[in-house]
Amino acid sequence: MDWGMKNRLSQLIRPDGRCFFMPIDHGYFQGPTSCLERPGETIKPLMQYCDALFVTRGVLRSCVDPALNKPIILRVSGGTSMVGKDLADEGLTTSLNEIIRLNAAAVGVSVFVGSEYEKQTLLNLAEMVNRCEDHGIPVMAVTAVGKEVEKREARYLALACRIAAELGARVVKTYWCEKDFDKVVAGCPVPVVMAGGPKCDSAQQVLEFVHDGLQKGAIGINLGRNVWQDKSPAAMARALQAIIHEKASVKQAGEIYKESSTRK
Ligand code: 5RP
Repeated sequence: MDWGMKNRLSQLIRPDGRCFFMPIDHGYFQGPTSCLERPGETIKPLMQYCDALFVTRGVLRSCVDPALNKPIILRVSGGTSMVGKDLADEGLTTSLNEIIRLNAAAVGVSVFVGSEYEKQTLLNLAEMVNRCEDHGIPVMAVTAVGKEVEKREARYLALACRIAAELGARVVKTYWCEKDFDKVVAGCPVPVVMAGGPKCDSAQQVLEFVHDGLQKGAIGINLGRNVWQDKSPAAMARALQAIIHEKASVKQAGEIYKESSTRK
């Protein structure tokens, strides 16, 4: 691996081998998602706990301070919306020149394995890998399921993660699942990070699944709604940071959450 690629990956993955990415890219198909109406305000209290920001070029330019001292993962696939025909019908949205101009540490591309647009989105990933590898820029594959949330089970996720890695993704983002998540991770030859999906019923549930996923081999999280839609977003981010980087148990993280959320 070349120096540039290693350097960018080391900005994203801390020396302990773990990572906490903060995704605020949801508007690219969901519009002004709840609690993300003003992305710049949403991230202000959170960035101190995270290792990188996952964002589109539009929000990056208009809402994120260029002096932000965190690496940027640029969302570079899209072209669909919640009210359109099919969320899977994505293309590539951002040129290599733009990726370089915006000083991205990595890019993220969604793949929709098993969908009508499987081939198109897998080739989007492969094309972005072809372009970015030449410049030492890692590509993170996002194994997306669109509205088919029932796909979030181990056999499907293992298939999607492995295919994304085979096509050249340096990191794969996928969903945690209750059963056999260790098999999803074991079948993927590159690091796996967990997305959160729609908001869980309680903070405890979030802490539990993140802790479980890390025990089963994931290197970290790319968790959005379960952080910034929580009633105490900064407390949740701090508690997750403790699980990821400080080896906190679920109980310890729960105490950190409680203490941080009651602090004025
Ligand atoms: C949206 C994404 C998000 O980055 C990903 O889903 C993580 O966010 P959340 O934890 O809210 O699911 O790729 O397309």
